[in-house]
Amino acid sequence: MAYIKIDGGRLLEGEIKISGAKNSVVALIPAAILCDEEVSLVNVPTISDVDSLEEILSFLNVDVKRHNDEMKIDSNKMINKPIPASLSNKLRASYYFMGALLGKGHKVDIYFPGGCTIGKRPIDLHLKGFKELGATITDMDDHFIIEANELKGCKIYLDVASVGATINIMLAAVKAKGKTIIENAAKEPEIINVATLLNSMGAKVKGAGTNVIEITGVNYLHKALHEVIPDRIEAGTYLIIGALLGNPLKISNIIPSHIESLIYKLQEAGVSTLIGDDYIVVRRSDDGYHPIDIKTAVYPGYPTDLQQPIIPFLTQCDGISKVEETIYENRFMNIPDIVKMSADIIVRDNRYAIIKGKTPLKGDRVIATDLRGGASLLICGLIADGETRIDNIKYILRGYDQIVEKLQSVGAKIEIVDSE
Ligand code: EPZ
Repeated sequence: MAYIKIDGGRLLEGEIKISGAKNSVVALIPAAILCDEEVSLVNVPTISDVDSLEEILSFLNVDVKRHNDEMKIDSNKMINKPIPASLSNKLRASYYFMGALLGKGHKVDIYFPGGCTIGKRPIDLHLKGFKELGATITDMDDHFIIEANELKGCKIYLDVASVGATINIMLAAVKAKGKTIIENAAKEPEIINVATLLNSMGAKVKGAGTNVIEITGVNYLHKALHEVIPDRIEAGTYLIIGALLGNPLKISNIIPSHIESLIYKLQEAGVSTLIGDDYIVVRRSDDGYHPIDIKTAVYPGYPTDLQQPIIPFLTQCDGISKVEETIYENRFMNIPDIVKMSADIIVRDNRYAIIKGKTPLKGDRVIATDLRGGASLLICGLIADGETRIDNIKYILRGYDQIVEKLQSVGAKIEIVDSE
């Protein structure tokens, strides 16, 4: 199995261009099948999640053409048939085919695995929304058949401001009869990006980005060209790396306001940043950093997806930092391997991590447990003394476009080794 090898401690200088957002494009691709004509997406990142979704589109006989960062999708010859687990369980975001196929043809048959390493990951709110729109759901233990004679707009209240449920219900509602209102909707920027695609096809979605979204059903959706927004989590990951090793590091093609919570926390720690319209320049400090406390929250709070990547930074702050994970029940799985690299971290109730710094890290052999946990181990390897080997790198390559090449381009000694 291939692994990542890093020779740590090198300062990084130069520019890293951020790619299209994973958590946007994994919804935009299924959303495109709602269109009655062709959809062109640009700024599509080169990540394995996109390849997995393309496999599902091809399985459904949807016409897909890819060229560089562009993806053209035409579902006019689509054949709606049961989507097997072998295709749908490669990524959780395959659940967006539920809303898209229900919204387009009032039927979806999909094998969908519950849970994943960071938590139970239920989809009860997605299903609640589909039911309230008029669908019947046959749930046969990870195999869902969802169908409706008619989808009728209604008011849906989300008990949790779920990103996935907000988007999935939006997809199911764009061609429903009448008006659907989603209350307590999630406000993440990716939701706005999906709503913008839908509206550019002729849908009527209002309020995306606020906690009340209103969708008025339409009958026809015409062709559209749409750009994937920059990946705020990829941008945040490199900003953290720049705070540790930037000499300096310029992170460009970003929307700084999308990572405001991270920028404030890093500034609180003493990181100095130069912020432009679509870039940030960050240089490591020789004066050390103050410890900070982090509590994850829904947008615009501190993103749970940047909880694991910030931990290596906190090991280098002078004092005790505290992290509280409020979104997932099991998002500290990467901590034992960071401790193996000599960090001083205690996890309590799987909800709190207490990090004592400044602790120099030592390279070691570690294993990625999930996408953002893998990213945190990679950051540890970049700052550690000596060599680090990271196994299970498929997790990292799911969500970070050309991360090894991007880091090599600014001076990191990092490579993917293909072992037998
Ligand atoms: C999206 O997942 C992201 N994934 C996650 O990023 C991200 O961590 C999460 O939003 C929160 O920001 C994609 O966009 C593909 P949620 P999603 O529904 O939509 C509970 C990454 O690393 N919940 O907002 O699945 C759930 O248990 C990934 O890129 C229900 O109870 O997240 C969790 O506690 C990891 N019932 C909370 O809501 C439901 O029906 C947040 O989940 C749905 C969710």
